Amino acid sequence: MRTIDLIQRKRNGEELLPEEIDWLVSSYTRGEIPDYQMSAFLMAVYFQDMNDVEVGAMVQSIIASGEKLDLSGVAGPKVDKHSTGGVGDKTSLIAAPLAAAAGVKVPMISGRALGHTGGTLDKLESIPGFNTAISTEQFIAQLNEIGIAMAGQSPTMTPADGKLYSLRDATATIESTALIAASIMSKKLASSLDGLVLDVKVGSGAFMKRQIDARRLAQLMTTIARRADLRCQALITDMSQPLGYAVGNALEIMEVSQTLQNGGPVDLTRISLELAARMIHIGGLTESLDDAREVAQARLLDGSGYAKLKQVIDAQGGNSQVLDRFDLLPNATGAMEITSPRAGFVSMIDAEEIGSASTMIGAGRDTKEASIDPAVGVILEVKVGQRVEAGSVLCRLYYTGEERLEDAAERIEDAFRISTTVPEARELILEIVG
Ligand code: URA
Repeated sequence: MRTIDLIQRKRNGEELLPEEIDWLVSSYTRGEIPDYQMSAFLMAVYFQDMNDVEVGAMVQSIIASGEKLDLSGVAGPKVDKHSTGGVGDKTSLIAAPLAAAAGVKVPMISGRALGHTGGTLDKLESIPGFNTAISTEQFIAQLNEIGIAMAGQSPTMTPADGKLYSLRDATATIESTALIAASIMSKKLASSLDGLVLDVKVGSGAFMKRQIDARRLAQLMTTIARRADLRCQALITDMSQPLGYAVGNALEIMEVSQTLQNGGPVDLTRISLELAARMIHIGGLTESLDDAREVAQARLLDGSGYAKLKQVIDAQGGNSQVLDRFDLLPNATGAMEITSPRAGFVSMIDAEEIGSASTMIGAGRDTKEASIDPAVGVILEVKVGQRVEAGSVLCRLYYTGEERLEDAAERIEDAFRISTTVPEARELILEIVG
């Protein structure tokens, strides 16, 4: 087989055979195909897409690139949750502890910031000392002891996804339904779960801008799960404005803490509770979804979800006091206010622009080698629908260096639309698939 022939056939819109996809993925993982050829292949997939059989083959090849995580020694229902990526999307850090506090075992394998979206691993690593690269032994022991462990894709588990993920981030090939489905589902099927709850984001801050594409992604992932006998449900949720008020790693940890103490933003609390409830229900801990909703709410109100997050932080080497003392988290050195040019109603806060501006000042990565500045980001002061006066503060930009600050501030100004009429309210949870 020759890489160039496979690139050419995919570029021309042809279907590749499972063994051809497997050869590409395994050769690339072994370093036998250079980044430039794999980039060309990914771009061809971006434009020509892959059908269900090709995606299924890619999932299997990515799984076969490493070892599976054997969780047979963990008693109880093992349920994970994964988001397709958004701006200010910190729901994993809220839903997972709530579900674990209710008795679900949560083996969470998360990702890093990708494009303009944030990543759970980067958020966790803004907590001083937190180790997201724990050993498999610790991961399993922690699941048995406290019911939850949070780590990244490791060099032994789905290494092909690790390589492909950073290559896609640097080659503008993230927004492909087929590639996102293969990336997420390979990680999930490699960790022998009993259940999976997916949060498929749609809107400007998501990779899927249109509901029809989000639906196709949700259907593709739930079909892959069904074929593998994995109970799976996907929620399609709105990502047209950032979720909650905080965007940026340490800033989001602060908002997670407030939310788990029942003092968080309404939108973030609502989605997190629904995701936790679905994890509890899919894990078979309640008869009905309504019962699971009551359990999730109770774990929020009695503080046990909050206590569970503290346990994970301590178990993985972090200092859980950061949840009460925000001064122990990395803090920005400067803040810039963005104000409203006129009175009216906030009719749009373009999540992609807010995410890109945060990335520009260091909250995300422009290149795969770049490091993250955990302290920086944006705190919104308003949400869509709110009335503002001329000069009202719309958001604050927190920074540690002035490089690219002006450009980022301009992008943020452009993200806001102020209109004379009240915008139509948008549903937060748009569809359930599976
Ligand atoms: N999350 C992943 O794990 N992979 C993607 O491609 C996008 C979001």
